[in-house]
Amino acid sequence: AEAGARTAVPQAGDPGLTLLRRVGVVDPLSIDDYRSHGGYAALRRAFALGPAGVIREVTDSGLVGRGGAAFPTGRKWQATASQPDHPHYLVCNADESEPGTFKDRVLMEGDPYALIEAMTIAGYAIGARRGYLYLRGEYPRALAHLTNAIDQARARNLLGDDILGQGYAFDIEIRRGAGAYICGEETAIFNSIEGYRGEPRSKPPFPVEKGLFGKPTAVNNVETLVNVLPILTGRAEETKLFCLSGNVARPGVYELPFGATLGELIERAGPPRTIRAVLLGGAAGSFVRPDELDIPLTFEGTRAAGTTLGSGVILVLDDTVELPRILLRIAEFFRDESCGQCVPCRVGTVRQEEALHRIKDRTGAAAADDIALLREVGRAMRDASICGLGQTAWNAVESAIDRLGAYE
Ligand code: NAI
Ligand code: SF4
Repeated sequence: AEAGARTAVPQAGDPGLTLLRRVGVVDPLSIDDYRSHGGYAALRRAFALGPAGVIREVTDSGLVGRGGAAFPTGRKWQATASQPDHPHYLVCNADESEPGTFKDRVLMEGDPYALIEAMTIAGYAIGARRGYLYLRGEYPRALAHLTNAIDQARARNLLGDDILGQGYAFDIEIRRGAGAYICGEETAIFNSIEGYRGEPRSKPPFPVEKGLFGKPTAVNNVETLVNVLPILTGRAEETKLFCLSGNVARPGVYELPFGATLGELIERAGPPRTIRAVLLGGAAGSFVRPDELDIPLTFEGTRAAGTTLGSGVILVLDDTVELPRILLRIAEFFRDESCGQCVPCRVGTVRQEEALHRIKDRTGAAAADDIALLREVGRAMRDASICGLGQTAWNAVESAIDRLGAYE
């Protein structure tokens, strides 16, 4: 994973960047360099605003979660902060595992203090004294940079018992995943941190009410948290990170204001001669056709087009790809990563893979029975699975059949 996931950051140092503006510019191991590039201004502002003021600004900004589900961040923080039960916890979901997603990695490796500062602000807002950073196990460089950042922040009184002399105590512990995709599901993270198998819990109750150790918990993705810094320091328009991969000349992480079209972004990354399809939102997302590249890259725009922005994954496929093989690979992935806890997903992901195996080399009428079976299994997984893995395991296959005519 280490070598395969190396990414280019095509526009490092570009003055138009917000979230990536320090990546490739600052020394990620130096807290002084971070501070000389605007670091910790947002935390000072947060202390000036007070917890309720921070939540108000985040709510007013309209920030929604960048892990994929786009839930309003201010609402999540407010719901956690207002719980009478204590202690409250903050969990940063850094178990970035959606195939094709590597934006959080770029942020954590290139600008680790930004995440530590943002977690401190989030903890302050929700009334937590402890934050857990649940990091994907295959991100050793991010681990080294974040560990160093936490140590340096402690040494400078930017974590610990009395941060910046403001009477606020907060510290961060890193926990590493061990390679399971499902451990990025927020309630599976709780089980994993608590020392149990990383299996999702049923929701509701939502984590804001009963989360880590049964206590009120806000879980936020890395990119979501890093967004809080420019919100508090009054910088710039809202942007989104996109992970471009597949048949493009310049794969990597791109930062763009919301509203650019899919086609414009692919153009920047160097499109192939002929596009066969584009997968939006990763394995849990859905395919679009080459005549749909005018879809605006916003949560609403992608939803209206019957697809999803997800965590910003864009996989471009040219006309040399064998679609049935790609679908089979996606189905294998879900079968492999299902935790097996609930029947629709445990059995459904196996049946889906079997059917795709059978129809790999067939088209038209020969494939019809298996396509009908796929639809039935897919509906059961979507309607009856406990967590997002099972609920989305049929999305990509369904869209390939319906939008791309994969087996016609
Ligand atoms: P969800 O829609 O169930 O929840 C989103 C967030 O909002 C959660 O934190 C949840 O606790 C909170 N929430 C929802 N309703 C709430 C309520 N009424 N009160 C308080 N809080 C509430 O989605 P989920 O299952 O957490 O995430 C699914 C997404 O994750 C998918 O969109 C998928 O694209 C993405 N994903 C991202 C990956 C990555 O590597 N970035 C990996 C796998 C999936
Ligand atoms: Fe486990 Fe799948 Fe059920 Fe999620 S949907 S709890 S991954 S078996």
